[in-house]
Amino acid sequence: MGDLHEHPELLLERLQDSSGAYPASPTFSAYRGYSWFRDGAFIADGASAAGLADSADRFFDWCSRTIAGIAPSIDAIVAAQAAGTPLPDSAMPPTRFRFDGTAGEDDWWDFQLDGYGTWLWAMEAHAVRHDRAVDRHAPAVVATVRLLVSSWDRPCFDWWEEHDEHRHVSTLGCVGAGLEAALRLDVLPTALAAEARRASIAIRELVHEQGLHDGHLVKWLGSTDVDGSLSALVAPIGWIDPDSALARTTLDAIHRDLEVDGGVHRFRDDTFFGGGQWPLLSCFLGLAELAAGDRREAERLLEWARSTATADGLLPEQVGRHLLAPDSEAEWIERWGPVATPLLWSHAMVARLEAALAADREVAR
Ligand code: BGC
Repeated sequence: MGDLHEHPELLLERLQDSSGAYPASPTFSAYRGYSWFRDGAFIADGASAAGLADSADRFFDWCSRTIAGIAPSIDAIVAAQAAGTPLPDSAMPPTRFRFDGTAGEDDWWDFQLDGYGTWLWAMEAHAVRHDRAVDRHAPAVVATVRLLVSSWDRPCFDWWEEHDEHRHVSTLGCVGAGLEAALRLDVLPTALAAEARRASIAIRELVHEQGLHDGHLVKWLGSTDVDGSLSALVAPIGWIDPDSALARTTLDAIHRDLEVDGGVHRFRDDTFFGGGQWPLLSCFLGLAELAAGDRREAERLLEWARSTATADGLLPEQVGRHLLAPDSEAEWIERWGPVATPLLWSHAMVARLEAALAADREVAR
């Protein structure tokens, strides 16, 4: 079986569906039977960094097939946008899919764009890390880039599937990073590449004009608050230079406003399951600190994330050691049952930070 405490990544392969999809959580009532591009891309990135390259390949093949399945709807979205009559959010592509690549029947907080950028970023990072050919993904990369180029500046739900009235900085960063990764893959037709380049520059400009407050990135354009997801833009995504003042000030604000004893909250107003601390966010902050040169801080955050494992080595979505909204915990347990455990994304992020620390040790030797 292998020890999950020592090798949290083993769960990723063990629970990966034969289609290549990674289930978000095999047991949690609201997630069972679905795979998200957001979770899945970070899970594949963790698997890839932890040496499970074939598992990551299978996921990216699933992404390619799933995108092929929605290609007609992407054509319609792009055509309507070009005609100046954008389709409503309800016609935008889904956030999560059944393992067979269909959208499923259950209502969800669709429309979210970040995952469509993140899978491009993760796939390119994997291809570079393991020297993989990418030609077979070209049609899906082209379709995804057409979607992102046409729709990146639309408001949509964020990483936490909330506030679809806003344009979220983490979402914009994931989309920008995806477009930049797609350009590096060198599979885009010339005209589309030019559009992708223009969009990726416009995203950076917009974030710098409206997505900053007091020198740090903010949750959505015009906000003054941070969000725990912003660390990901520093690392592993690297859309923000880890050595920049912007990265430092953003990480400092996350420590100040969202971190308690190594556990990181999503955002100050979080009420989901009482607004606990998320091990995957401690790992993102740890990855960003490591990229910025603070190894001890990364180790401290990793230790906290590891401490959330159950006796069987399963990592939860969040823990209730420090709740921002204790009065809201019970209603969620009543609605959906106990906190999602295991959450594959949590396993992937612990594995990802461990791999980054191991690589850093190698370099230091
Ligand atoms: C989180 C999302 C995540 C989903 C599946 C939701 O509660 O807010 O970020 O994609 O669960 O894990």
